[in-house]
Amino acid sequence: MRLLFGCLLLLCAGLASAATLTVDTGAGPGKLTTEQLLARPDARDIQVPGDVSYHRDMRYRAVPLKALLAGVPTDAHLQFVALDGFTAEVPASLVLRGHGAEAWLAIEPPGAPWPPLGKDKPSAGPFYLVWLHPEAGHVGPEQWPYQVASIRVLASPASRFPAMQPAASLPANAPARRGFAVFQRNCLSCHTLNGEGDAKLGPDLNIPHSPTEYLREDMLRTLVRNPQDLRHWPQAKMPGFDRKVLSDADLDDLIAYLTHMAGRRPKR
Ligand code: HEC
Repeated sequence: MRLLFGCLLLLCAGLASAATLTVDTGAGPGKLTTEQLLARPDARDIQVPGDVSYHRDMRYRAVPLKALLAGVPTDAHLQFVALDGFTAEVPASLVLRGHGAEAWLAIEPPGAPWPPLGKDKPSAGPFYLVWLHPEAGHVGPEQWPYQVASIRVLASPASRFPAMQPAASLPANAPARRGFAVFQRNCLSCHTLNGEGDAKLGPDLNIPHSPTEYLREDMLRTLVRNPQDLRHWPQAKMPGFDRKVLSDADLDDLIAYLTHMAGRRPKR
């Protein structure tokens, strides 16, 4: 009986205890609890039409993410680490400057948990990055990380991953250079390139071969728009990128980048 009571207490404590978000803006990790975040004067109720993870309109209690990121340089990248270790990167400029899109950190209230993300799945809590007017900043579906446990500030991928960079001799407005930005925004969360990057989910996009070498260009375009239109299987993990997220011009630039990088494979 005593054992059972002890277990119940533990269980209750587990359910009631608030989560902790770790935020490291470079000066060392700081911790913020659910209560502290909910008590912030800038916390608001926001309405998110067509929430990317729940596929419907949602309401959240949220704080503007940029308020938690004082002193972060705009060329940095934010890395969101989920409870299961999955990481997503968002350029700090998108959060800090907005370009019209607003990043909000939604906080799951301990007393009113959010619905599960699917059958037998947990909710998007304890913390979830949601966007208002995402189309204004071309925010992709990969940039809505959920079940967030920590946020880290990283130097820009261009400086962290030199082997991913296009040739320095390319002019600033070269399509391959723009394509590198498209790649960072949409693909880097799941794919490495030339062996660099933190992703572990999808294959490397240049080693041993570039998809621009073994896929016909129209097939590669089909794959990016909707992978299941090229090859279909139930457990596929790659999402499609529609024109709202990735314009036709972005896709041209992305292919220019991948083609360019096929000529910049490290010698081994
Ligand atoms: C959410 C993770 C994710 C994102 C984001 C993502 N991919 Fe993928 N990709 C995968 C996975 C996983 C596979 C392996 C097939 C599968 O499971 O769908 C894959 C497969 C591929 C393949 C086929 C490789 C092969 O030889 O079979 C290509 C090409 C590709 N991705 C390109 C891209 C490009 C370009 C982008 C950015 C526009 C991108 N991916 C974004 C996860 C992702």
